[in-house]
Amino acid sequence: MLHFRVPAPAALALLVFQAVVVVLFIGWHSHITPPTSDSNTAPGGKVHVLLVSSWRSGSSFMGQVFNHHPSVFYLMEPAWHVWGCLQRPGARSLRMAVRDLIHRVFLCDLSVLDAYLPIQHNVSDLFMWSHSQALCSPPACPPPFHSHTTPQITDCAKQCNVAGLERAEAACHTYTHVVLKEVRFFELESLFPLLRDPSINLRILHLVRDPRAVFRSREQAAAALQRDATIVLDGKAASSDTQTRVMQEICRSHIRIYDTAVKKAPDFLQGRYKLVRYEDVVRDPLTEIQRMYDFVGLEMTEALQEWIHNITHGKGKGTPSEAFKITKRNASEVSQAWRTSLTFSKVQQVQEVCRSAMSLLGYRLLNTEAEQKQLDLDLTRVEKYSFTWLTSKSPKD
Ligand SMILES: *[C@@H]1O[C@H](CO)[C@@H](O)[C@H](O)[C@H]1NC(C)=O
Ligand SMILES: *[C@@H]1O[C@H](CO)[C@@H](O)[C@H](O)[C@H]1NC(C)=O
Ligand SMILES: *[C@@H]1O[C@H](CO)[C@@H](O)[C@H](O)[C@H]1NC(C)=O
Repeated sequence: MLHFRVPAPAALALLVFQAVVVVLFIGWHSHITPPTSDSNTAPGGKVHVLLVSSWRSGSSFMGQVFNHHPSVFYLMEPAWHVWGCLQRPGARSLRMAVRDLIHRVFLCDLSVLDAYLPIQHNVSDLFMWSHSQALCSPPACPPPFHSHTTPQITDCAKQCNVAGLERAEAACHTYTHVVLKEVRFFELESLFPLLRDPSINLRILHLVRDPRAVFRSREQAAAALQRDATIVLDGKAASSDTQTRVMQEICRSHIRIYDTAVKKAPDFLQGRYKLVRYEDVVRDPLTEIQRMYDFVGLEMTEALQEWIHNITHGKGKGTPSEAFKITKRNASEVSQAWRTSLTFSKVQQVQEVCRSAMSLLGYRLLNTEAEQKQLDLDLTRVEKYSFTWLTSKSPKD
């Protein structure tokens, strides 16, 4: 088996060591506080990672960063099934169903998906299943598909589509890390029961991106995002300003999540949350990804470093593509594409509804169109951002 199997005492020692390293070296930067107790040690030292983000914020890419790790069982958007199946308007009314689904999936109990799948289902009924390396490798994928190289998505789709989810479940138990990527959380309170569950060792990675870039990307994928937009806006998404209002909700959720995790974090959330800005990952992918791996206790390998370099130095620009396609793109170009393609009046609209979130997350507001087009003007404020980290740890907050 390829996966890491670490004996429990060693895993514990590793965890303690890692916590110390994290606190000493990067704690100040990413406002990780030491866990108040290490009571939360899931069976087998398993770590559960929830990658929380919003649509068009680089979360598919970030998910791939975990998906490619040999110790990770990765699923993309399991809550897609909940939102698609339960015809109730409003993210709020669906959040407990989403939370319960995530909880069971973290424990490798995929039967929770039964409610949302056809009676006779195959693994191919899972959203974006063939993008999950774990589902495309043994033991989830039966012989003869035993490739030790990265399985191609099309080969996987042909050869690994087994009936039922039992193989996937069994596979899930063999990995040290279960990573789920979700764009359907707008708060953290609903996750408190998972944080209190001793069989779950949760790490929350909160990925944010410049709202102006998200807005531009959403406009290009508006049709594909329509159904979700309706749910975000509690069923009221017919008007022309849908995108702006969705952005407003997303920006509000960033503030809400940050406040819960940093400003008024309950004990059981301490040290379990890390905020990541997409732009920082684009600027220095290896450093930022290393920090994320450290945070969740995954080791960096040479093959992964090479893959990360490849995927962030592709040739394609941020051109409209299929809504969920993960392609090799020039990350710095994609990151800046909105500055030439979004009208200044739309930039102003987004800034209007996202002002507080942008200030909190260190995204600089534009005052003129000339500033927008001046591409060497860096809009991610490193100093302000660090300052935010430091003050957020002061006892007054
Ligand atoms: C489900 O998997 C079985 C093989 O286990 C296959 O014969 C069948 O065609 C698949 N069905 C669908 C709808 O993919
Ligand atoms: C990175 O790209 C090079 C050149 O295209 C290729 O030979 C190599 O296999 C790639 N490595 C990984 C890990 O994807
Ligand atoms: C990616 O885009 C940046 C900014 O336009 C450019 O400087 C760089 O050369 C590009 N890299 C590749 C590999 O095309």
